[in-house]
Amino acid sequence: MENVGITITRREAVLAIGFDRAQKKNALTAAMYTAMAEALRQAGGDDAVRVVLFHGSESAFTAGNDLEDFLERPPSGDDAPVFRFLLAVAGFDKPLVAAVNGPAVGLGTTLLLHCDLVYAGDNARFSMPFTQLGLVPEFGSSLLLPMVAGYQRAAEMLLLGEAFDAQAALAAGFVTRVLPVAESLPAAWKAAEKLARLPRKSVEVTRSLLRGANREAIVQRMRDESAHFRRMLAEPAAREAFAAFLAKRKPDFSGL
Ligand code: COA
Repeated sequence: MENVGITITRREAVLAIGFDRAQKKNALTAAMYTAMAEALRQAGGDDAVRVVLFHGSESAFTAGNDLEDFLERPPSGDDAPVFRFLLAVAGFDKPLVAAVNGPAVGLGTTLLLHCDLVYAGDNARFSMPFTQLGLVPEFGSSLLLPMVAGYQRAAEMLLLGEAFDAQAALAAGFVTRVLPVAESLPAAWKAAEKLARLPRKSVEVTRSLLRGANREAIVQRMRDESAHFRRMLAEPAAREAFAAFLAKRKPDFSGL
């Protein structure tokens, strides 16, 4: 497969999807979303794959949406690569495991709300800076985060959008364990392999019992968030935030 910034590794019944664009802190482009949506589609239809594992490197999980790519190719509808990926994750029936080190920005954090087991290195830094970008939460996070972390903590994380560390993510309830950096990926592989050795039906039905009741509500919230997100991408606040990021200056939201 052409190197679009994603690695796919198969070890027995575990399929690992790696973010691999080090020079841009693994920021996610449309091509990466397309490759990941396709990998999930194939994994979902392949009985020999029992678990999917997301990981970055020891220094970065992902900086979230590539802001330059987003400006050039703004997502336009349900067919947009980013939305196809979000739907593929939300509709995935097999367990999802993640190993997270370094920055996990935007989707790098909201993806974890859809994962079952999350192993964070002690250098992990999470953030959902949507309001700082003139945007709104995505990936069902406005529904899932308050459910997992409680309203006040979710409101702080989503309204202020500031970065927080692995211990705070553990306390917020969407990280399973915090480990030294070099141990997070091996721990995630070990857990994924353990899951893959258990009876497939039992694991999948247990997961669907754990998550099932919320699935429709989550997808509906993703659609609602996405409608706001797409509209606001074209508005002055997001334009200013993106231009400021690319020019390496602070945004000026006065009057916006
Ligand atoms: N989109 C596009 N490029 C990005 C990016 C993103 N989301 N995140 C990082 N990059 C690029 C930087 O512009 C820089 O490129 P350059 O070397 O050509 O100048 C390179 O990746 C390294 O990033 P840098 O900011 O120098 O690394 P850092 O270690 O100081 O900070 C982050 C890392 C992730 C905290 C910081 O890059 C950041 O805040 N990125 C934006 C995250 C964001 O807003 N994502 C969107 C969420 S919806």
